Amino acid sequence: MKKQKKIFLKFEANNFYKRNIKRLSNVNYEKHQIFIELKNYLKKNKKKINLLEVGCCDAGLINYISKNFKNTKCNGIDPSLLAINSKKNLDLNLKVSTADDLPFKNSSFDILIYNFCLYLSDDEDLFNIIYEANRVVKKNGLLFIYDFYHKNTKYVKYIHRKGIYSRKMDYSKLFLWHPKYELIKIKKFKHKNKNVHFKNKNLNETRLYIIKKNI
Ligand SMILES: C[S@@+](CC[C@H](N)C(=O)[O-])C[C@H]1O[C@@H](n2cnc3c(N)ncnc32)[C@H](O)[C@@H]1O
Repeated sequence: MKKQKKIFLKFEANNFYKRNIKRLSNVNYEKHQIFIELKNYLKKNKKKINLLEVGCCDAGLINYISKNFKNTKCNGIDPSLLAINSKKNLDLNLKVSTADDLPFKNSSFDILIYNFCLYLSDDEDLFNIIYEANRVVKKNGLLFIYDFYHKNTKYVKYIHRKGIYSRKMDYSKLFLWHPKYELIKIKKFKHKNKNVHFKNKNLNETRLYIIKKNI
C-alpha cells in the first residue's frame, strides 16, 4: 500500500485545507481544549516558551496562542504548503514536513502539540514519530496529544479518499511505556461530528493527554 504520508505531502494535505478553509476561520480558539489547558500552564510560566505544533494545518491554534502569550515563540509543521502559506506573514515559524521528520535541533521545545494529526500517520512511521518527539522536546517539556481514541486500535476508512485510513488508538501508549514519561492529565470527550466516522458510538471518543518528559 502507498504510504499515506506521501499522499498527504503530494495533495491530500492541501485538499484537506481547501475543504476546511471556512470551518478553520470560524474556530473559537478561546474554547479549544488545548488552549484551555495550555493557558493554565502559560499564565504561571514567566520564562520564554518555545512551542511546536505538529500537523498545524493553517496554524490557527498556534497563531491564537502566539497573540495571547507574547513570551511564546510558536512553530508549526504540516504537509500542506497551501495551509502554511496562509499564515506566512505572521510571527510564526512554519515549515512543510511530517511528524516523523521534524526539521528542528535536539531539545528545542518546551511544548509539543499534536492536535488531531497522529490519526492520519502511517503505522510504519510511529517509531520515527516518537523518536523525533523525544529528540526535539527539552527535559521537563510537555506533550499535548488530542486525538481519536479506541482501546483496541481501530482503522476507519477516510471518507475523502480511497485507500486512506484513520487510526483510533490510545496515543498516550506511544510515550507512557517509557519510565521517564509521566501522565499529567487526561480528558475524555465524545466527538460531535455526525458524519459516517462517528455514527458508531464506540468510535467517537476523543482524548486529550498532557504528558511530561522527565528525561
Ligand atoms: C484534522 S487536521 C488537524 C489540523 C489542525 N491540527 C487542527 O486541529 O485544526 C489533520 C492535519 O494533519 C496533517 N497531517 C496529515 N498527515 C500528517 C503527518 N504524517 N504528519 C504531520 N501532519 C500530518 C494534515 O495535513 C492536516 O493538516
